[in-house]
Amino acid sequence: MSKVQNWDADAKVAVATTVNGIPAACSVETRSLLVNMIRRDLRLTGTHVGCDTTQCGACTVLLNGRATKSCTALALEADGASIRTIEGVATDTELHPIQRAFHEHHGLQCGYCTPGMIMMALDILTRHPRPTEEQVRHDIEGNICRCTGYENIVKSIMAAGEELHARGLAAQDPAWR
Ligand code: FES
Ligand code: FES
Repeated sequence: MSKVQNWDADAKVAVATTVNGIPAACSVETRSLLVNMIRRDLRLTGTHVGCDTTQCGACTVLLNGRATKSCTALALEADGASIRTIEGVATDTELHPIQRAFHEHHGLQCGYCTPGMIMMALDILTRHPRPTEEQVRHDIEGNICRCTGYENIVKSIMAAGEELHARGLAAQDPAWR
């Protein structure tokens, strides 16, 4: 006769991570999603939830510097890793060039998709500092915007790349945390 194994789905485990450059410790259920840890435990509600099914990109954050849909990652994956959310993009005194470009080029309307778009833009401009329009359009495929028609989002990301280049800065330069 086989033994019955006890399985406690509500068991909590410790996650030690770095969020926007600051060490953080959370206690999460093993099944907790990263987005829930960010929004509920860390209270960083700038990361949005649009679909909860990996389609809209509203929940995009940087996990170890790469854009990640946080509704699709487990909180446990952040253990020992670094998370960057929209709250960690501007400095105390200055918007990041990507944020300023979205403002100047009207890259947003309702703003619901914007935190995820900006985190994706950080990833794009890290991989392609001066991207072509095709590269931007390809890489934002997983981020849905219901308002803008994308035209101004693409312009904003390309303009931010040019500004960063002119200032000799990388998209994830430590000057931007
Ligand atoms: S909420 Fe994560 S992709 Fe839509
Ligand atoms: S600005 Fe409204 S969803 Fe993108």
